[in-house]
Amino acid sequence: MTEPLLRVRDLSKFYGSRMGCADVSFELWPGEVLAIVGESGSGKTTLLNCLSTRLEPTSGLAEYRMRDEVWRNLYDLSEAERRFLMRTDWGFVHQNPADGLRMTVSAGANVGERMMAVGDRHYGRIRSTAIEWLGRVEIAEDRVDDEPRAFSGGMRQRLQIARNLVTHPRLVFMDEPTGGLDVSVQARLLDLIRGLVADLGLSAIIVTHDLAVARLLSHRMMVMKDGHVIEQGLTDRVLDDPREPYTQLLVSSILQV
Ligand SMILES: Nc1ncnc2c1ncn2[C@@H]1O[C@H](COP(=O)(O)OP(=O)(O)OP(=O)(O)O)[C@@H](O)[C@H]1O
Ligand SMILES: [Mg+2]
Repeated sequence: MTEPLLRVRDLSKFYGSRMGCADVSFELWPGEVLAIVGESGSGKTTLLNCLSTRLEPTSGLAEYRMRDEVWRNLYDLSEAERRFLMRTDWGFVHQNPADGLRMTVSAGANVGERMMAVGDRHYGRIRSTAIEWLGRVEIAEDRVDDEPRAFSGGMRQRLQIARNLVTHPRLVFMDEPTGGLDVSVQARLLDLIRGLVADLGLSAIIVTHDLAVARLLSHRMMVMKDGHVIEQGLTDRVLDDPREPYTQLLVSSILQV
């Protein structure tokens, strides 16, 4: 693995005259988990949405190494290529599971649908793989025909993760994946995410307010303030020995957001 998966250069997004994020540059390597942290309004979601091509940046470049090893600028992809990438090679875990699930079809169908999107048509295999994935995210097999609206928040989030990972994406984007959950539910979910990411060798970009989440899940982190990345580095280094005064405040919990 001698090449990164993603290279981002001078990425900026303005909403009219308001800055969302500006001049962001970094590389993401295979198997690497990157956390984006910072206070509310610092530009985390804007950046994530630009990277996942949900938003078009105002300027800058994000090059992705496709499965066929060809580097492509994400913003030059056709709509069909972009959708294909989102359905196959990428996952996106929303803070609110309802945004990433179909709430009125069964849990099994939520996972199976994603397999069908990559061309699987074999009913028996889809069902058995869906059940296997429910097991991996600790949802009992007898819930396979239940709709997610009958699930707790933590279960919905685990189902959303199963739906995203069943196609073995190479890159997963997560926006506050444990955001709205109880602390005890959060802890289990974080453990689960950490295990799956490591087992599958996934690359991930995770937006979080919570430095404990960054500490637990990420190898590297970027600290954002007012749209800019003001510090980046290995997670342990940034948290144990922050260089920027703003990061020092964040870490010392004076600014706990
Ligand atoms: N659709 C939009 N139109 C105009 N300005 C926006 C829009 N979305 C975000 N912004 C602005 O861009 C800046 C960055 O917002 P963003 O939502 O990316 O921050 P964030 O770090 O994700 O915050 P939070 O932690 O509250 O989710 C803020 O000043 C915000 O007001
Ligand atoms: Mg946000």
